[in-house]
Parts: sequence; structure tokens; C-alpha cells
Amino acid sequence: MSDERFAFARPYLAAPILDAETLQARVREMGAEISRDYRGRAVHVVAVLKGSMMIVADLLRALTVPVSVDFIAVSSYGPEARASGAVRLIKDLDESIAGRHVLVVEDVIDTGLTLNYILGVLRRRQPASLEVATLLDKPAHRLVDLPIRYIGFTLPDRFVVGYGLDFRERFRNLPFIAELREDLIEEELIE
Ligand code: IMP
Ligand code: MG
Repeated sequence: MSDERFAFARPYLAAPILDAETLQARVREMGAEISRDYRGRAVHVVAVLKGSMMIVADLLRALTVPVSVDFIAVSSYGPEARASGAVRLIKDLDESIAGRHVLVVEDVIDTGLTLNYILGVLRRRQPASLEVATLLDKPAHRLVDLPIRYIGFTLPDRFVVGYGLDFRERFRNLPFIAELREDLIEEELIE
């Protein structure tokens, strides 16, 4: 957050949460753990767009087993930051997952509604196995209990941006994660 290159973001941020080095180190650890667990198997990563783009790019490079990757996109929050509860499939997978060892990679799990919907869709397609890795877990507002195999960091109920996570499509490019100023959640962003 003190990085001068990202000074444009500073007026919108309340507090630093996770710096770039901490994120990189934890994602590498997750990659090592997943690689141990999947030894002797190929893992088919299903990345949930767009928020997971940073973690999936870093995680794939930390995996030492054969990997394939596909993308799915859902809309959960609409244009607003608050949960509407409605989940809609925007982009389906390109490939069949039947008989494959599927690892869903998420940026953040909050209420769990988005992931619950995705797991329902994927389970019906009969993968050989289905596990979840998330960079962030925010259990405070969980509405559905979900099996999450790999968790990067557990955070309190704060709205955070950076490293793929957005507020109204902004701040995904920050290499660190920071808390968004609470008053901004109700305000328009300056263009
Ligand atoms: P859930 O359905 O409530 O679990 O919400 C999951 C989705 O909400 C994520 O994939 C994000 O797109 C969004 N989301 C939840 N919390 C945050 C946050 O703190 N920052 C940015 N996006 C968030
Ligand atoms: Mg989002």
C-alpha cells in the first residue's frame, strides 16, 4: 500500500491486509500442499472468473503435477458490492469434467452462495473428485456450509480489493490486498 507505483489507489483504501510477498509465499505453500495431495494424478483446475485470475496464475506455477485449466464465470453480486443472493452462469466451461480430478479455484468465499451454485453445477457432471481452493475465506456471513479443502487466509468481515479482487471492476491490478474504505462502498468512484 506504501508502494508509490500504486499511489492512485491510496485514497480508496482503508488499511493494508496482505502484502505481495505474503500472498506469493502462501500461494506457493498451497501449491506445494496440492501437489503432494494430487501426486500420481492430473489435476483439472476450474478457475472462477474474474477474481481468481491472480491466484490461479500463481498457483499453477507452483503445481508440480500435470495440470489442465478451464474457466467458469458467474455473476453473484451484480454491479453492486452487496450480495443479491442471485447467481447466474455467465460463461460455462469449455471442456467436459466427467471422470477428472477437479479443483475449483476461488478468490474469496463470503456467503458461500456463489460457490454452492458452482459446486452444484459441477457435481452433476460427475467428476472423479471435486475439491475447492480459495485464496480468502470470510466465514462471518456464511449462509451455506461448504467443504473447502485449501484456504489461503481467513479474514474477518471486511471488503477487500487487490490481487484479482475488485470493487466495481477496479483495483484487481494491485499486487497486494487492502481493505476498501467503507464510505466508498456507497459512493461512486472517480474516473
Ligand atoms: P459469496 O457468494 O457471498 O460467497 O461471494 C463470493 C463473491 O463475492 C466473490 O467471488 C467476489 O466476487 C465477491 N466478494 C465477496 N467478498 C468480497 C471482497 O471482500 N472483495 C471483493 N469481492 C468480494
Ligand atoms: Mg467480484
